[in-house]
Parts: sequence; structure tokens; C-alpha cells
Amino acid sequence: MYDLTVIGGGPGGYVAAIRGAQNGLKVILVEKDSLGGTCLNRGCISTKCFAYDAKLLEAARTSQVLTGAEALSIDLVKMVARKRQVVETLVSGLGKIIQSHGIDVAQGLGELIAPGSVGVCQDDGSTKEYQARHVILATGSRPAVLPFIEVDGRYVQTTDEALDSEDIPGKLIIIGGGVIGVEMATICRTLGSEVTILELLPDILTTEDEEIRRAMRMLMEQRGVKIHLNAKVKEVAARDEKVEVTYEDETGQGQTFEAERVLVATGRAPVLDGINAGKLGLETDGPFIKVNARLETSLPGVYAIGDLVGGMMLAHKAMAEAEATVANILGGNEEVKPELIPRCIWGFTEIASVGLTEEEVRASGRQINVGKFPYINSSAARVMGDINGLAKILGDSETGEILGVHILGPHATELIGESVMAMTMESAVEDLAKAIKPHPTLGETVMEAAMDWGGLAVNSPKKL
Ligand code: NAI
Repeated sequence: MYDLTVIGGGPGGYVAAIRGAQNGLKVILVEKDSLGGTCLNRGCISTKCFAYDAKLLEAARTSQVLTGAEALSIDLVKMVARKRQVVETLVSGLGKIIQSHGIDVAQGLGELIAPGSVGVCQDDGSTKEYQARHVILATGSRPAVLPFIEVDGRYVQTTDEALDSEDIPGKLIIIGGGVIGVEMATICRTLGSEVTILELLPDILTTEDEEIRRAMRMLMEQRGVKIHLNAKVKEVAARDEKVEVTYEDETGQGQTFEAERVLVATGRAPVLDGINAGKLGLETDGPFIKVNARLETSLPGVYAIGDLVGGMMLAHKAMAEAEATVANILGGNEEVKPELIPRCIWGFTEIASVGLTEEEVRASGRQINVGKFPYINSSAARVMGDINGLAKILGDSETGEILGVHILGPHATELIGESVMAMTMESAVEDLAKAIKPHPTLGETVMEAAMDWGGLAVNSPKKL
């Protein structure tokens, strides 16, 4: 008898298993594939490896001092091999960490048979059953493909296939201008593809602050990515080594584009394989497993976390939910507040944000001051030679409560951590302004934006 069975070994599942073991629980982790889930094997880590390589190339090409850099190119076979090596190292390291904590790993598809009872499909087709006091479902998500699109893996791909391709198409159409669409457009465009994004909505990255996403869209267009908004894709047909994509534009007219490859990036759907939601009466919320603030499902002793429960489909959100769930199993009462989960996008430059967008705050009717600091005024950004960017802070005009922080620019994804900490500790905008930053660093951009919130930015001209 175990204390805890975790189904799914991605960032949600492995963190839950490790935290459980660290707290003295006897844990079994069920995984049908490689440990690490989408994030390690087919998602975050792979895209960040490629984004890093693409950025290196771009930095060399645009350097004012390197000579001969225009002739540089990336060896795609080596790029994919490096990514595989990084993934393999992390997956094998994770296996050792899990082993070091005495966590049992059952290889195979996990099936929720009843609360506390999980079956694991064996190679010979039989099922081995494990009993535990608590079960955490952490089965993640997979690409959601529009019903009329057939993913053949060669001409029509999702990230599952694209991140293992050792070639770059001359012409690429990306369906969907969300996070994956923007990140993959950046990588492929930098490596030489002609990239067109077809996005259904009136803008790309619609969950981000309007000013920030507008700046990103302009940057992408400057770098040669073609973006068609209000474009509803109706048909994708692969023929004669080409793919034709037909969409309806904003006037209702049909348009057809041709490319060598199509990437479908229209969101992800939860993986419910083996969960038997209908049979067990496990309540759902649309396609997701329904949970309360404590991450409890409608079945006693059964919890669900990560992409499976909807909200932001982010590895660190799943990890935070794993920690909260284990704390709750141990008798605590923890929840993960969505307004404290940072969002990060690795495009031609980085976007990182936490909390509400300016549009959301304005719609709520709250009185706010908006503090801003452009990278162009930052000495550190000048030194780096990359002055495209902006730090923006939304704070209650009376209390100074931080309601949202949005950063666009180099290292935004590293910079956001301080703002998440400030919001978690319920610090005020003035605290972000007062905390001393080393000079010259990009951290000063957030500090100056906080100073600007109070009308006191030092490195910006006086406002008239
Ligand atoms: P997404 O939900 O961010 O974007 C999908 C886009 O496709 C939307 O803008 C939607 O309007 C558009 N779309 C849907 N149907 C369409 C149609 N028929 N024609 C044209 N456009 C259409 O989903 P995405 O980019 O696939 O990412 C999946 C999940 O993975 C997201 O939740 C994302 O946050 C997460 N992710 C996070 C990353 C990060 O944190 N850096 C990296 C990659 C993925």
C-alpha cells in the first residue's frame, strides 16, 4: 500500500512525487513514456535550446564588431543533436533524482480504476494494480488539431514532429499566433524560412498586454514574418510535396497560400487516456478535469494538476500545483493564485509578465498609475546593443498595490522573477523602486518603471 500514486511524470507529476517522498510519503510514479513529460521531451527545453541557438546566430549577424558574421549559418543536424543531448541529460538526471528519493517508477499507461486504485498496463497486455491513500492525476496535454487537419508529420506538423526535424522549410505557414506560433516563427525565420502566421483573432498573443503584444508584432514584421490576422483556416491539403492552406479573411473572402510545410499551433488539449472520467463519475469542466482551489477532484483522495485542469498550460504552473497538492495531502490548505503565475515567451525578443494587463485593470474600473521605462534609456541595454524593450508596471494609484508587471526585451524572462516575488510578498510599487540594483544591469529597467509609477524615474526626461 502506497501513500501516493502519481500518474504522469511531467513537471507536475515528478515534482509531486519528489515533494511527497521528501515529506516521508511512500510514492509510486506511473509513466508510459520518458520521464519529464512534454516540457523536457517535446516542449519547453527543446524550444529553448533552438531559441538560444537562433539568438546566438542573430546576435553574431547584427554585431557591430564581429567581421564575417554575415556568412554564418547554423548546422541543423548539430542543432537537433545538441537539443537531444540536453534532453537526454536532463531526463537521465531526473531518473537519478527520483531513484535517490526511493520513489518507485511503474512504466506503462496508468489507469484510474477507482479512488486509491491505479492499474498499470504491462507489456504483455495484463494490468498490475497498485493501491494508495491518495492519487494525483498529472497526465498533461497534447496538441489540439483542428478536426479537418491531418497531421502527417512531414508536411503538416505539430511541435511534436517539428522539434525533431533536421531541416528547415523554405516556406512555412504557422496556423495560430499564440505562444507556440510566435516562438516557432522566431526560430524558423532566423534560420532562413519565409514564415507566414495565420491567426484567427484580431491579434497575436491575445492574453498579453496590448502595448507589449503590439511591440512584439511590429518586431516580428520588421524581421520579415508575415502575419495575417482575422484569418480562419478552413482547409489544409498536402499534395505534390507542397501544402495548400485555405483560409477565410476578415471580409469573408477565401484565400489560399502554398508552403513546403505547415505547423499547427492552435492550442493543446488535456490527455484523459486511462482516467475513465465518465465511468467513475469524475466531474469535468469542458475538456478538463474539474478541481477545487485545493486541487481536489470530485472523487475522494483524487487530485488533478497541470494542463489536465486547464488555466495556463505552463510547466511552472503545474509544478506549483504539485507542491500545493502535496501540502494539502499532508493536511495543509494551499492554493495556487493565477495572478501570481508568470508568463514567458521567447520570441525575437522576450516577453514576461505577471498579473493583469492594462486593459483588464482599466476594465475593472480601478484607479491606477502606469510606470514605464524603455530599454532605450537603459545603460545596460545600450552596453548589450539591444535597446528594443519596455518595462511596465501597473499599480493602484492610492495603495501602490502591484497589479501587473509586463516586460518586453532581452532577459525579460529572468527579470520577471523579482516582480513575482514582490507581488507574492504583497510589496508595493515603491518597494520595487527602492530595492537597490547593481549598475549597469537590466534589473534597473524594472526599478525605473517603478520609480516612473510615482513620477520619479531618474533616467527618463521630465514628462511635460
Ligand atoms: P495558444 O492557445 O497560445 O494559441 C493558439 C492560437 O491559435 C490562438 O491565438 C488561436 O486564436 C489560434 N487559432 C485557433 N484556431 C485557429 C484557426 N482555425 N485558424 C487560425 N488560428 C487559429 O496555443 P499554442 O500556441 O498552441 O500553445 C499551447 C499551450 O502551450 C499554451 O497554453 C501555451 O501557453 C503553452 N506554451 C507555453 C510556452 C511558454 O510558456 N513559453 C511555450 C509553448 C507553449
